[in-house]
Amino acid sequence: MAWPHDVACYISIRGTELVDFKDKRTLITGGLGFIGSSLARRLVELGANVLLVDSLMPEYGGNLFNIAGIEDRVQVNISDVRDEQSMQYLLRGQHYCFNLAGQTSHMDSMRNPYTDLEINCRAQLSILEACRKYNPDIKIVFASTRQIYGRPDYLPADERHPLRPVDVNGINKMAGEWYHILYNNVYGVRTCALRLTNTIGPRMRVKDGRQTFLGTWIRLLIEGRPFEVWDGDQLRDFTYVDDAVEAFLLAAGHDQSDGQVFNLGGDTVVSLKELATLLVQINGGGEFVVQAYPPEEKRIDIGDYYADFGHIRSELGWGPSVPLPDALRRTLDFYRQHILRYL
Ligand SMILES: NC(=O)c1ccc[n+]([C@@H]2O[C@H](COP(=O)([O-])OP(=O)(O)OC[C@H]3O[C@@H](n4cnc5c(N)ncnc54)[C@H](O)[C@@H]3O)[C@@H](O)[C@H]2O)c1
Repeated sequence: MAWPHDVACYISIRGTELVDFKDKRTLITGGLGFIGSSLARRLVELGANVLLVDSLMPEYGGNLFNIAGIEDRVQVNISDVRDEQSMQYLLRGQHYCFNLAGQTSHMDSMRNPYTDLEINCRAQLSILEACRKYNPDIKIVFASTRQIYGRPDYLPADERHPLRPVDVNGINKMAGEWYHILYNNVYGVRTCALRLTNTIGPRMRVKDGRQTFLGTWIRLLIEGRPFEVWDGDQLRDFTYVDDAVEAFLLAAGHDQSDGQVFNLGGDTVVSLKELATLLVQINGGGEFVVQAYPPEEKRIDIGDYYADFGHIRSELGWGPSVPLPDALRRTLDFYRQHILRYL
């Protein structure tokens, strides 16, 4: 397949070494979710001491099956990041906090704005307060999002692009991100933020579209049912989850990330119609229908987006290493085997 929107093929040869995580105490909020559990797997491989904190609420992506095979090598604490007492206790003595707990659904943030506010904004402030008071030497990497740019003025969007979120989730994630940077700048609690674009891979939520539309597509494809592509001309980029995990580790381990925000991105830019065609092709069959955007969703759509990730490439040597077709193939293979664990 030809890629009409290639920005570049950044198959990275990473120039920056990971720090040694062996025996380092690492806490992952949202650690039973898609990206958090993938990070946990990698940290276990690297010999870290890993504590996963997750509320396991059914609307979100947490799933105990996500840690199948490493369950004896991590500690799991089913807690809510909104619980200040628990977080004060759990954060003490940790070398690193990978702060990934979040409410991810844009539509849910419009229907239940206060829940999104509590999790994506207020709880972030209390995590930072707990660190300031009880563990100021910790390093925190926050999972931010490209959603905070809103509808881009120019593409690819770099970190200097204005922030103009189009939904409640984007506003709260933006505040969560800025609290982190503020605590770095004012109190010297070392933090940084990664603005993730669409992240895909095994263990993502496929039950519904709360985490990503692609989850629904994959589920329906595997069930042999047609999926819907809304509009279809929007451009997007995708990061494979293992690449996102490497970015978290690089950001945690290097002081030059302190107080900084970094975009992550993908090696290819595709329209959603192209993505759907590629997915069906890799699956060896399947159908999709192109439809108009439902009006409720259209109001908060960001249109085209793809990231300029030159900043993290030059500062930390990060770039995507898994091409989009491989990312889709690995994801489909995983769900062909394990779909029942995710419904
Ligand atoms: N997946 C993406 O494409 C993407 C894109 C941009 C940003 N992000 C951010 O990355 C982070 C991880 O996302 P993900 O895709 O792994 O989603 P996910 O839903 O799989 O993971 C989030 C985890 O946080 C947990 N959680 C939610 N509220 C909690 C609470 N109050 N207390 C404790 N745990 C709670 C959930 O149970 C879940 O396991 C999120 O902060 C999200 O905003 C993800």
